[in-house]
Amino acid sequence: MTDIVPVEPLHAALLAGMHRICFAEPWDEAAMGAVLAMPGGYGLLAGANKPQGFILCRIAADEAEVLTLLVLPPFRRRGVAAALLRAALDTAHAAGATAMYLEVAADNAAGLALYAALGFRQVGRRPHYYGGKTDALVLKGDL
Ligand SMILES: CC(C)(COP(=O)(O)OP(=O)(O)OC[C@H]1O[C@@H](n2cnc3c(N)ncnc32)[C@H](O)[C@@H]1OP(=O)(O)O)[C@@H](O)C(=O)NCCC(=O)NCCS
Repeated sequence: MTDIVPVEPLHAALLAGMHRICFAEPWDEAAMGAVLAMPGGYGLLAGANKPQGFILCRIAADEAEVLTLLVLPPFRRRGVAAALLRAALDTAHAAGATAMYLEVAADNAAGLALYAALGFRQVGRRPHYYGGKTDALVLKGDL
């Protein structure tokens, strides 16, 4: 099982590089640093010595939100994302959150399968959310 460590501000450049590999509209180092500095923000990195993936979240009052989650292609289908998401849910629960929300593209089969496997259910839809084309589904997981 891969190790999971808390994300630190000094990881901003690393996380931006990983984000660029996985998303068509990547967050640069400055954007990543801003996310990490948000009140209630926290992140977890899988593979401290050999980074495999990460999750960034935010807690506000009793609600938590997944801001981004990715696993680099060579490390997929090994349970890394599920481990990151479970650890993030545990952190949110320990901080007093009662629900975790996230947005996922309606055509992201891998993401939808992952979130369904961890008990998330659809509670909303934002039409044409990604690039003015693809709908976003809003999912909720109870903690
Ligand atoms: C979505 C993503 C994070 C999944 O990461 P991962 O580490 O491969 O996922 P896991 O190995 O933990 O998968 C856990 C479960 O999710 C489901 N799943 C994950 N990837 C899947 C895929 N490509 N197709 C179908 N089901 C999938 C399966 O149920 C899987 O369990 P199983 O392997 O025992 O069948 C990864 O594909 C990724 O980084 N994609 C690009 C970025 C992205 O879409 N992020 C999410 C945006 S909201």
